[in-house]
Amino acid sequence: METMIYEIDDDDLDSPSLGKCADILRRGGTVAFPTETVYGLGANGLMPEAIRKIYQVKGRPSDNPLILHIAHIAEIQSLVETIPQGAQAVMDEFWPGPLTLIFKKSPLVPSEITGGLDTVAIRMPSHPIARRLIELAGIPLAAPSANLSGKPSPTASQHVIKDLKGRVDAIVAGGNCEIGLESTVLDMTQEPPMILRPGGVTREMLLQVLPQVSEDPTLKGAMDPHMIPKAPGMKYTHYAPEASVILVNGAVDKAVDKIKALAQRHSGAGLRVGIICSDETRHYYDEDWVIKSIGSRQDPKTIAVNLFKILREFDETDVQIILSETVEAVGLGQAVMNRLLKASGYQLIQV
Ligand code: TXA
Ligand code: MG
Repeated sequence: METMIYEIDDDDLDSPSLGKCADILRRGGTVAFPTETVYGLGANGLMPEAIRKIYQVKGRPSDNPLILHIAHIAEIQSLVETIPQGAQAVMDEFWPGPLTLIFKKSPLVPSEITGGLDTVAIRMPSHPIARRLIELAGIPLAAPSANLSGKPSPTASQHVIKDLKGRVDAIVAGGNCEIGLESTVLDMTQEPPMILRPGGVTREMLLQVLPQVSEDPTLKGAMDPHMIPKAPGMKYTHYAPEASVILVNGAVDKAVDKIKALAQRHSGAGLRVGIICSDETRHYYDEDWVIKSIGSRQDPKTIAVNLFKILREFDETDVQIILSETVEAVGLGQAVMNRLLKASGYQLIQV
């Protein structure tokens, strides 16, 4: 399939190319587009055969439901059965933005999108291109992250082109994603509402609007393989680069020592070693290794922005094993640690 690639700036919302992409979507085609979290792979969210294309293109298991993207809060009316208590305040505060809400679905929502569940995930993105595209298409867009299943989510147009060129009708290349991690998923059908996936809107932020917020227990006990997460997508290994990733968790100086010892041992055994460190610890490591700083420990936002980009960069190198520092799992750090744990397949050494 030939994939049209349209470069569009955030302030070029009248570009005729966006109109073309909206037409493709309305007619049942596939278009990847930027959002503030990660790039999405969009299709007409009310058309079962268009939705099926998303699963084919990504190689995604059909029991993993998709998020419907809307441009205005009022659009949820026809997609949900009820708006539970508290949801209005949450939407008013955090939409548009990196927060997905789960509601009981209305009959209008095709079961292809929900993986057969009676609930639907809805998000109103803040990225100007995403919103204009949804408006022009005039339909809610089903959009998972625009990566092949199992790969790190794309935070730059080159990532999308690498994964999806030749597999989708069009790609809107619109620069880098501001947040760099997928949205927080909050289940509003439970009382208190439950975080199923940590993301850009943190638990602390939600507690400013909701009296109580619970968390899927698997987010805490992430090491227990017998616990099944409530968001179907959270059970799959994700974000994995080709090399295997091992996390070393603990006080920063001890973690650095352990990583250096392991790196020496692995390179002694003939393996090419990569290291994920921070700006603060960069100078501790030896040049023989492929060393990438994920950002400053003082600035969790830069760490979130860089994570998937760095995981993908390792695929361009010959490293066979990646040793990574960790961050404290609070605030945005919770989402970063969640993705790092998944990238490592939960291989974590405690020091
Ligand atoms: O930031 C984002 O959310 C990006 C951008 C493109 O909007 N999208 C994204 O979609 O990350 P995806 O498909 O990669 O992740 C959606 C997550 C999955 O873990 C899925 O299982 C969960 O949301 N989910 C979707 N519908 C659900 C439902 N009805 N109940 C529980 N979990 C649901
Ligand atoms: Mg995804």
